[in-house]
Amino acid sequence: MLNDPYGRKFKTLRVSLLNTCNLNCFYCTMGSEEEINYDHRPQKPAAFFSQIISRLHATLDLETIRLTGGEPLLYRELPELIESLNEIGIPKISMTSNGYLLGRQAAALKAAGLQAINVSLDAVDEPSFYKMAKRRHLDRVLNGIETALGLGIEIKLNAVIMKGMNEEQIIPLVDYAFGKNIPIRFLEVMSMGHLHHESDKYLFSQQQLLDQIATKYDFKRLPRKASATANYWQTADGNTFGIIANNSEPFCSDCSRLRLDAEGNMYGCLSSNHPIALDAEDSDYLLQEKLQQAMSQKQLHHFIGSELSMLQIGG
Ligand code: 5AD
Repeated sequence: MLNDPYGRKFKTLRVSLLNTCNLNCFYCTMGSEEEINYDHRPQKPAAFFSQIISRLHATLDLETIRLTGGEPLLYRELPELIESLNEIGIPKISMTSNGYLLGRQAAALKAAGLQAINVSLDAVDEPSFYKMAKRRHLDRVLNGIETALGLGIEIKLNAVIMKGMNEEQIIPLVDYAFGKNIPIRFLEVMSMGHLHHESDKYLFSQQQLLDQIATKYDFKRLPRKASATANYWQTADGNTFGIIANNSEPFCSDCSRLRLDAEGNMYGCLSSNHPIALDAEDSDYLLQEKLQQAMSQKQLHHFIGSELSMLQIGG
């Protein structure tokens, strides 16, 4: 088994299927009104990803694959890819999506074997949604969530809260999530992409989040689970919410994630912009060497960030 000196293994693989996104969220693109999220390179076929993943699974005995992007719902062969990952024997297949195109795709994805979706939802009212994502029709995302829930797909919400952008959405987001019984996690903004050197300006910290939520709810902290990204709290009436405190409480030390980008490059850490190119034809020896290299990118304490945004490296 491949371990780093601290006993960490790779058990979760995040796969960015493409670099294109249909929203223009402030943290990725500075809220530009232009279509700057379009990657003109052709999408790699599902067979490209499934061959590499099958090699990685044989070595790592992966527990979870999370499909991301860009926006994974823009990947043409998504149901085919999910089916083939099931055939490879990946126990849990999940996806991180902005949910904008979920309504019409949810049934096909469920049929292909998708179990869970983390929907990025940074606002529950139309003007705030527009401010964060530069798109109208928040209702599409909300309907997508309803459709997926109705099909029995496990849904979690991810909300990035940025100072001066959407902090007034914290309570409405909590109310929405509790009302629908959907787990919600708030994320501190990470210093990625154009925010690499100025994320402090926008940081809304775990403590500030808790202070806001405390204006309406009583809660107590739950014990932290191993390898979890989020800290969790439970309210007096049994609802839970989480905070992914990348900045206030970095969780690098027990990270078990490995990343693959849309071109077949592997990364051991979200902070690394040193791609390790994989090829399905690599010998076992070479693959092991590359995995060691990815392992050495892992950080022990602090999340550093990089010039790459989530659009490129996948969430
Ligand atoms: N900081 C925090 N979260 C981010 N995401 C994308 N970019 C950033 C950033 N700079 C979120 C997306 C998605 C999750 C994978 O990461 O909204 O929910």
